[in-house]
Amino acid sequence: MTPITFSNVSFTYPEVDEPQPAPAEPRTDEPDVPAPDPVFTDLSVELPGGCTFLVGPNGIGKSTLMLLAGARLFPENGTVTIGGRNTREFENAGFEPELEVERNELVSFVYQNMEFETVEPLGEILPLVAENGPNPAAAATVYDELVEVAGLRERLSVRMHELSKGEMQRAILAMSVLYQSPVIMMDEPVFAVEPTQADRLFGWLADRSAADGIDIYASVHDVEMAKAHARHIVLMHTDGTVQVGDPEELLARDSLETAFRAPFDTLYQRQNLYRELLRKSLGDEAGR
Ligand SMILES: Nc1ncnc2c1ncn2[C@@H]1O[C@H](COP(=O)(O)OP(=O)(O)OP(=O)(O)O)[C@@H](O)[C@H]1O
Ligand SMILES: [Mg+2]
Repeated sequence: MTPITFSNVSFTYPEVDEPQPAPAEPRTDEPDVPAPDPVFTDLSVELPGGCTFLVGPNGIGKSTLMLLAGARLFPENGTVTIGGRNTREFENAGFEPELEVERNELVSFVYQNMEFETVEPLGEILPLVAENGPNPAAAATVYDELVEVAGLRERLSVRMHELSKGEMQRAILAMSVLYQSPVIMMDEPVFAVEPTQADRLFGWLADRSAADGIDIYASVHDVEMAKAHARHIVLMHTDGTVQVGDPEELLARDSLETAFRAPFDTLYQRQNLYRELLRKSLGDEAGR
């Protein structure tokens, strides 16, 4: 287990300087653009290892929390550590390829809405990812089972961008597992995947996490999925509180209603609405 700690962390996205059209008259006043709100203010929390699901309303900061934990973003104030290392050590990862590899070998990231274009077919890409990770031998032992459980056996001859959105997500999940870093952040990794497939995949991931000691953090909107497979829950409340605990406790009706500040039944309506919107906007397999 690689503990991740947040100590007094504050984070605000930087203001974006959008190019403004030149005014007809020179302005004497500043345009009235409100400063962005902080996503986190003085947050202290320890994220447990194992298979951990992040649950919370849209826009509350699930992706941001994972990006900070995975050393893809850095706090304005306070400290984030992963495996005892301050994530600031990786602040230049974007400019130093060796540092980037070192970070990725510690914690890999499946981004929300991630997509790939490749010249090679999936059947060549997957072994390439496994060979280039920190533990090719371990990757080899799970390769066949993973291809099977991710339902990719029939798609190995296809190039990444020729996959449907749901197949693409399953392929990216498979890649993240084959890379074999000890910590994997998965930001909404199965939203376009057909529910039975997603359930099977997460069941397998949860078992592997327990057996191999890999820490998997996944943000999901499907509470039932989290209930079925999470060992721990990170529940992010509308008021900014971040709670860590057992699925039975934190995913209980009262707890979810407090966090989402919404009646329980509407949470399920919202979840279905969210999925429906995604199905319509993507050529996915979830709506088939
Ligand atoms: N790149 C960005 N630039 C500016 N603001 C951002 C950026 N990404 C997110 N935000 C803002 O930060 C807050 C937290 O967003 P975040 O994406 O972490 O939420 P989330 O819980 O992952 O939401 P969702 O469930 O929709 O994925 C939101 O108010 C969002 O508008
Ligand atoms: Mg998000």
